[in-house]
Amino acid sequence: MLWMGIVGLLMTGGWLAVVLAETPVREDAQPPATTAPAEAPAAERRAFAPIAYFNDRCGGCHGNYGSFWGQGFAAHLDDRSLTEMVREMAEGPAQAPLEDQPLAALVAYNRSLADGLPFVIVTARRDGTLRGEVTPGSQVVIELPDRKIAAQVEDHTWTVAVDPLPPEDAQATIVATRDGKTTRLPWRQWHSHGQPMTREPPPAH
Ligand code: HEC
Repeated sequence: MLWMGIVGLLMTGGWLAVVLAETPVREDAQPPATTAPAEAPAAERRAFAPIAYFNDRCGGCHGNYGSFWGQGFAAHLDDRSLTEMVREMAEGPAQAPLEDQPLAALVAYNRSLADGLPFVIVTARRDGTLRGEVTPGSQVVIELPDRKIAAQVEDHTWTVAVDPLPPEDAQATIVATRDGKTTRLPWRQWHSHGQPMTREPPPAH
């Protein structure tokens, strides 16, 4: 496609692959090729961030963090109907269709709104720094075999320096706590509230 050629010309090395791998919103929802900037915007270099997406695309009707509906949002929907509902909402009113992987992360976030447990996701693992999203008001702690490191939380994002980053199979856990309720995310998993727990890590970069 023409736009891919243009993007390819503008980017050297692995950037094209990185952008294609990490851009979650479907191609047909992207701006036209002629407006593609010379450098990919920072947002495109990160893995999908479902809370930011929700506030941006769904919050107009459901409130930021689903606040208009309160706790129990979509609680009556089973996994299958919740997935279908979220897919329809993304394609219809939100006008921002999602590929399967980001859709699963958004469904997981909706599930957390229903069960009231903190949602936690890793959006970047790089250079000894870990970043992610979490339900606002949560504390995030990285539990390693020999120590615990508290992440800095600002609104719904968290950041922590863990240098060096433990390997994929490490015995480490990302623990989010809010109002006495705790969600434990095993190191290998990308986000909480998956059915089954999601194993794909965000794209490395
Ligand atoms: C234009 C307004 C609008 C936008 C944008 C919107 N929704 Fe909805 N949503 C609604 C309305 C109205 C309902 C209730 C009617 C219905 O069930 O179709 C609803 C229902 C839902 C439900 C079912 C809730 C329940 O308890 O039954 C879920 C889940 C949901 N939306 C998720 C989302 C997600 C995720 C997004 C963003 C991708 C989104 N919505 C964007 C208006 C919107």
